[in-house]
Amino acid sequence: MSSAKQEFLFPEHEYTTRHDSPKPVNVASVPQRSPFRYPGGKTWFVPTFRKWIGSMHQRPRLLVEPFAGGGIISLTALFEDLVDSVLMIELDEEIAAVWQAVVHGDSKWLARRILNFELTRETVLDAVSACAKSTRERAFQTVLKNRTFHGGILADGAGLLKYGENGKGIRSRWYPGTLARRFENLDVVRPRIEFRCEDGLRAVREYASASDVVFFIDPPYTAGGKKAGRRLYRHCEIDHEDLFSACEAIRGDFILTYDNAEEVRALARRHEFQMRLIPMTNTHHARMEELVIGKNLAWLDGLPAVREPRGQYGKSKRSTKRSKAQAYRKKKPTPNTRK
Ligand SMILES: C[S@@+](CC[C@H](N)C(=O)[O-])C[C@H]1O[C@@H](n2cnc3c(N)ncnc32)[C@H](O)[C@@H]1O
Repeated sequence: MSSAKQEFLFPEHEYTTRHDSPKPVNVASVPQRSPFRYPGGKTWFVPTFRKWIGSMHQRPRLLVEPFAGGGIISLTALFEDLVDSVLMIELDEEIAAVWQAVVHGDSKWLARRILNFELTRETVLDAVSACAKSTRERAFQTVLKNRTFHGGILADGAGLLKYGENGKGIRSRWYPGTLARRFENLDVVRPRIEFRCEDGLRAVREYASASDVVFFIDPPYTAGGKKAGRRLYRHCEIDHEDLFSACEAIRGDFILTYDNAEEVRALARRHEFQMRLIPMTNTHHARMEELVIGKNLAWLDGLPAVREPRGQYGKSKRSTKRSKAQAYRKKKPTPNTRK
């Protein structure tokens, strides 16, 4: 038997119990509502998101998703009626075109366009290189690229699938019936969606003081030398310090999701937020852990998640001062013990 010592990814963490080590969510069990196959998509987070909203005393009026991408969390919130409405924000104009088309009532048009498209390498190249004359045409180009480019990546430098799944090439992720149905369903929730193509941080600041608004914040992450964000997204420069400061002002509640990187953990500690690690499997079925950050994650305590030992973060400045004073008093020798 191997005697190799197990190294924990997060050495200052302790596992709640080593034996009931967290199991990653089976994403196949989560209803897929988004028309996108999105790099960094949060389908795996859906069960945790439901638990978060379910733990609230009051149903939120509005969910703000400032870095919407494929928007699975907003769409789940709408279809499962967890909030009244959503505000989705995305800076990438190609992705924005899809959400704008949905909000403008072009979902059915998109569904028909997808069903009628004869997909070959040539027709895809022709369609994606044409100059789009309307938002809905641009939306169709985006869907086509997202379904026929490597990893669904739309950032510059991405290219057409060569072999795809099971050697099916560019057809391997093109499911016209399923996609058309997703767009038709989106038309049902359309009146409850507001969409903006702008910097997501603006909306965080705008709605921070509303106590009945919640935020699901999944920014692109490129700090600490991680270049994945740059390859996956056209827009990936975020001032994370600014984002954390804006989150401090949120009166309702928020969740931030990030890669489990020391820079991010340091930011969370500095802003006195709490952290948990949630298990997930990535697109290559490798097991990973993602960092979830919030101001009060007590609702996650029942889950077999991973946490930092108490006292590392999330303490108010006053209580930190008090415990420092207590520690000092304990250390200070009393007169009769002095030698
Ligand atoms: C990690 S992805 C979000 C994935 C999304 N949660 C999902 O499930 O599909 C981050 C997204 O933020 C977008 N983005 C980058 N900078 C932005 C900004 N300043 N404002 C709004 N969106 C931005 C990127 O284009 C990318 O789509």
